[in-house]
Amino acid sequence: MLYSITINPGLETIARQELTERFSDTGHLKILDRRPQRLLFQYRGNPRDLLSLRTAEHLFLVLKQTPKMTRSRSSLEALSSPLARFNFKEVFDCCRQVGINVRRRMPFRVTSRLSGKRNFRRLDLQQVIERAFLERGWYLAKSKSALDIWAEVHGDDGYISIKLSKNDMAQRPYKQAHIPASLKPTIAYSMVQLSRPHPDDVFLDAMCGAGTILLERAHIGRYRYLIGGDISTEALDATVTNFGRQHQPRQFFHWDARTLPLQSNTVDKIVCNLPFGETIGNVPQLTNLYRRSLKEYERVLKPRGRMVLLTSQRELFEGELKQCRSLKVVQRLTVDVRGMRAWIHVIRFT
Ligand SMILES: C[S@@+](CC[C@H](N)C(=O)[O-])C[C@H]1O[C@@H](n2cnc3c(N)ncnc32)[C@H](O)[C@@H]1O
Repeated sequence: MLYSITINPGLETIARQELTERFSDTGHLKILDRRPQRLLFQYRGNPRDLLSLRTAEHLFLVLKQTPKMTRSRSSLEALSSPLARFNFKEVFDCCRQVGINVRRRMPFRVTSRLSGKRNFRRLDLQQVIERAFLERGWYLAKSKSALDIWAEVHGDDGYISIKLSKNDMAQRPYKQAHIPASLKPTIAYSMVQLSRPHPDDVFLDAMCGAGTILLERAHIGRYRYLIGGDISTEALDATVTNFGRQHQPRQFFHWDARTLPLQSNTVDKIVCNLPFGETIGNVPQLTNLYRRSLKEYERVLKPRGRMVLLTSQRELFEGELKQCRSLKVVQRLTVDVRGMRAWIHVIRFT
């Protein structure tokens, strides 16, 4: 069966790695294509397995994919016409495996997405696909149990898919308490992967907010010690709530990351979502925070240690990082964070 996952912009490579690491040994996986914000692949196992992917925003079962969409309305027909003869047996088996209730006369709804210049509108796309399913005897419904069909046209690509995931696929059950600038778990997971997790890691997030990065680290596998801290007591309370009793050993501190109460050369990995300056509006204050916390990170990081830091303030950040002689950027990824351009810097102690 053909599937696609959608991904936060900038995390496509990490999503591909996750898919390969998790499923290539099974012999059931074949990755076909990587597109912006999307991976297309064949998988012969149970689709329920795919719902646990930590980089994916949504999981789709692809009914039809064409790389031949043009500006013209006639390409809409090319996308919808195979649906009239489509054999849904295997598709319905897949739907059942993820808990979707299927019936002979299926209630459905169509969501359409369109980008690029076209001689048709998004509504035209939606209506063509709706018509194709209505002609099969299915009926349009708004109820929760309706099959979620997605019709998408991006660049030359057209997709008709069934959404298999629920809307909370990218959420995590651990996230009970939130703070305003809390990081998406998919981005936190990707940052942790970039730190190359190791069972011996002493792992630090010195501005941990609601604890998303620390929790993603805890979920990935063994570590020696988790350390989190924040200047805000509300943020720390959120971390404590989200951890509950699980994931030992760990310790949380109410601290200022500019003066860490940690000994030098003691931390293997630092992964941190730095404040972007939305709450600290003032540039000199943000400069001071970046300068002094980077110096502290350089001090506590072990030789050969690794840091993964996220910021939207690239110039400011890279300017301050240059002052830290032992720290070198080895990789930089551009990602979208709440609609803003931001950069994940992977840094090595040299
Ligand atoms: C962008 S948020 C981090 C969000 C976190 N990754 C999450 O998912 O919840 C930045 C955090 O840095 C904290 N912070 C700001 N200045 C700090 C400082 N000097 N020392 C420690 N924490 C600080 C804020 O209180 C906030 O919780």
